[in-house]
Amino acid sequence: MNSLGFVGLWMFLIVLKNFVLNTGGMSLYAETKMASFDFNTVPVKEKALYTPPLEEVVDVLSRGLRKTFESVSVTAEECPDLRKAPFDLTTPGLNGDAKLVELGGPPYLVPTVQRDKVYDLAELLRHLGRDPALLAGAGAGPWPFIGVNCEGIVNLAVREGVVAQGSHIVSVHPVGAAKGRSGYLQQRLPTNETRSALLGNYLLSEGKPGKVIKVEVKKRIGPSNFITAIRESLLEHYGDKVIGMGGAFVLREGKVKHHVMPDFSPTPLCTDSDVDTWLHYFEMRAPIMHLGTLVTGDMGMDLRLQHFHGYSQHGDGGHYHYDTTPAEVHYEGYFTLAGAVLRIDPPAVTHALGRD
Ligand SMILES: *[C@@H]1O[C@H](CO)[C@@H](O)[C@H](O)[C@H]1NC(C)=O
Repeated sequence: MNSLGFVGLWMFLIVLKNFVLNTGGMSLYAETKMASFDFNTVPVKEKALYTPPLEEVVDVLSRGLRKTFESVSVTAEECPDLRKAPFDLTTPGLNGDAKLVELGGPPYLVPTVQRDKVYDLAELLRHLGRDPALLAGAGAGPWPFIGVNCEGIVNLAVREGVVAQGSHIVSVHPVGAAKGRSGYLQQRLPTNETRSALLGNYLLSEGKPGKVIKVEVKKRIGPSNFITAIRESLLEHYGDKVIGMGGAFVLREGKVKHHVMPDFSPTPLCTDSDVDTWLHYFEMRAPIMHLGTLVTGDMGMDLRLQHFHGYSQHGDGGHYHYDTTPAEVHYEGYFTLAGAVLRIDPPAVTHALGRD
C-alpha cells in the first residue's frame, strides 16, 4: 500500500472508531471526545518500597546533600498547609497510604506517539478504590483538551467522589512556533478535565497533614540537580533497599532550565539527540513550584527514576532539568516516603530514551 493509501485507511479507522464511541453522533472534533484508557484491561503491578524511619532519612540527606549544596537543612516536621501559595496544592498535606504511581511510559511518546494512550486520572483513582485521594506529579498533559501535546502538572484531589482540580498544563506558544522563536503558555485545567496522556509519575496519597521530610538548600556547589542530589544521597546509603518519595518543592531564588514539549513529532524520534532537538528549552524564574516523584531503583518495573514538573503564578512552567544560577539557588521541598510503587500500563517494548 502506498503511504497516501495508508493515511487514508488510518483516517477512516479513526473516524469509524469515533463514530462507534460517540453514540451521541459525530463530533466535528472527534478526537477531543476520544474515549480514555480502560484500566480494567491491564493489571496493577505493586511492589513494596523500603520505608526507613524519617529521622534516619533526615540524617542521610543532611550528610549527602552537602556535596551538592553549601547550605543544607533537612528536618522531619509537620507538613505546612500546602494549599497555601506558592504550593497551591489541592490537599493540605502529602500523607496517608502514600504510593508512587507510574502510568504508561516514554515509549508511548517516542519514537512515535500512541494517541490512544489517554488516561482519565479521576477514573484511575476510582479504579484503585482511593477516596479521599491526592494525585500529584509530572506527566504528559491531556493533548485532546488543547489539540496539541503539552506538559502536565497534575494536582488533583478526590473527596467523597468530588474532584478538586488544581492541575496545569504548559504548551509551546504559539502552536507550531519554531524552536528558538517560541514561548510557552500555562493554563489551569477545568474541573471536568481530569485526563492526562502517554506517561506520568505521580504521588498517590490521602493528602493528609502529618510528618514529612523538609529539605531546604541554598547555593549549589556540585553538578547534580536538586532531585538527583536527593536520589543519589539515598541510593548511596540504602543501596539495594529501594526508597521512593513524592512531593513538592519550590525554587525560591534563582532560575531553572525547563523543557516544554512541542506538538508530537511528525517524524520518529530515534535517539536522545533527536528528542533533545525536538524539545523546546526555556529558563524559568522563581518562585516556581514543582510536583513529582523519585525512586532509587528500577525494581524490574521499567520505572522512571525521577520526574518533576513545575508551575507558577507568573506563568512559567514545564519539565524541570536543573538550575542555571548555582550561586543564587534556594530550594525548599516537602517529601513523603512512599510504601509501594504501582506500575500501570507499562509499555510492552521499552527503551531508555527520553528519561532525562
Ligand atoms: C467539560 O465541560 C465543558 C463545558 O460543559 C465541555 O465542553 C467539555 O467537553 C467537558 N470536558 C470533558 C473532558 O468532559
